[in-house]
Amino acid sequence: MQLKNNTYSIQDVELTALCKKFGTPLYVYDANKIIEKINHFNTAFQGFNVKLKYACKALTNINILKLMRKHGVGIDVVSIQEAKVALLAGYEASQIQYTPSGVAFAEVKEAIKLGIPVNVDSIPLLEKIGKTYKNTISVALRINPYIADGGNIKISTAHKDSKFGIPHEQIGEVVKVSEKYGIKIRGLHQHTGSDLKNADSFLKAAEVLYDLALSHFPDLEFMDFGGGFKVAYQDGDTVTDMENLAEGVKKSFTNFCTKYGKNIELWFEPGKYLVSECGFLLVRANVVKENPARTFVGVDSGLNHLIRPMMYDAFHDVINVSNPDGKTKKYDVVGYICETDTFAADRMLPSVKEGDILAFKNAGAYGYSMSSNYNNRFRPAEVLIHNGEAKLIRKRENMNDILRNQLEVEI
Ligand code: LLP
Repeated sequence: MQLKNNTYSIQDVELTALCKKFGTPLYVYDANKIIEKINHFNTAFQGFNVKLKYACKALTNINILKLMRKHGVGIDVVSIQEAKVALLAGYEASQIQYTPSGVAFAEVKEAIKLGIPVNVDSIPLLEKIGKTYKNTISVALRINPYIADGGNIKISTAHKDSKFGIPHEQIGEVVKVSEKYGIKIRGLHQHTGSDLKNADSFLKAAEVLYDLALSHFPDLEFMDFGGGFKVAYQDGDTVTDMENLAEGVKKSFTNFCTKYGKNIELWFEPGKYLVSECGFLLVRANVVKENPARTFVGVDSGLNHLIRPMMYDAFHDVINVSNPDGKTKKYDVVGYICETDTFAADRMLPSVKEGDILAFKNAGAYGYSMSSNYNNRFRPAEVLIHNGEAKLIRKRENMNDILRNQLEVEI
């Protein structure tokens, strides 16, 4: 997003014009930003056999998936529905990695039938797969390496108390089950968490996977170090230094491959890194309420559209798009939901009046994809700015969407 002549725009498309055309609230994504992130990663890892698998749960619009595919990015899915959208976006089944957690076995079978590779996150699932596909299947294993990192406890997924993955200390049991049923182990995976504070966590987790590979799994085709690259949510935030990480990972993975006796692929599966910064949620100020204690700006959106502040106490920067150089004042920006849905507290913003357009930054990842119809509100439209043009990629919901699947019975 650029500020030129007192006007905010993306690829020269003015944000206020977008709001006029498509209404508010509105999710807007900058395709160039996504491409920039892909290129940044590829440049840092240049010359290395590494693949990106986009964790599509972050932003699942089919057009975003198509954009990723067009730019050589594979895909990580966690549900059969995400897998089906990936197929519709043109992915081959073999380019998809399916990492379910605690889903019904029927769903896993459906994925296998579609030819989608499975990443197994529990011993009971491995056992079921073994019994059903004896001597005919190969899978990856999601290992819990017991490394505690992540922006907060809710998004830390590899500590000892986490539900995710197979605890690395249970590998003996895994080997027994896979040998019993002739399951080929083709990959080892781990995902430490989101917003990793310490990039060394990747290297620590890698060591756990290397040990397991060297002692138990001679036929691996790949290792997957997961996602979790840290992006900036506000000025001064530390971010994952991609060049530095690439240097460390290249060295450590090359050493491993030498010991292992062959070169295998390395995968990462970021979500936030690829799409957080490309997205903005544009909202309109419905009311400015000067209470004795605080000044509230009430906007035409809420936790139903962007739940991160409420769910994780996440910080999302706010911009007053309508009045970039106004005199600043302290505000609480709040939603229209009947809950205390504070988007931003104690924020200095250029003075806000009714009708002003505000933008929440970092809304690309886990924004729309975690939205709901709470309070019977419509989900917003989504617009992709692509080749300098604003393209509507999802319509705003309407009453039919709210009533969809409700059956009126005699009361
Ligand atoms: N791989 C696996 C297996 C995952 O579970 C996740 C995220 C990722 C990759 C991508 O992580 P990322 O690069 O986006 O950090 N809703 C939370 C984040 C939850 C992430 C869940 N899994 C948030 O808004 O912060």
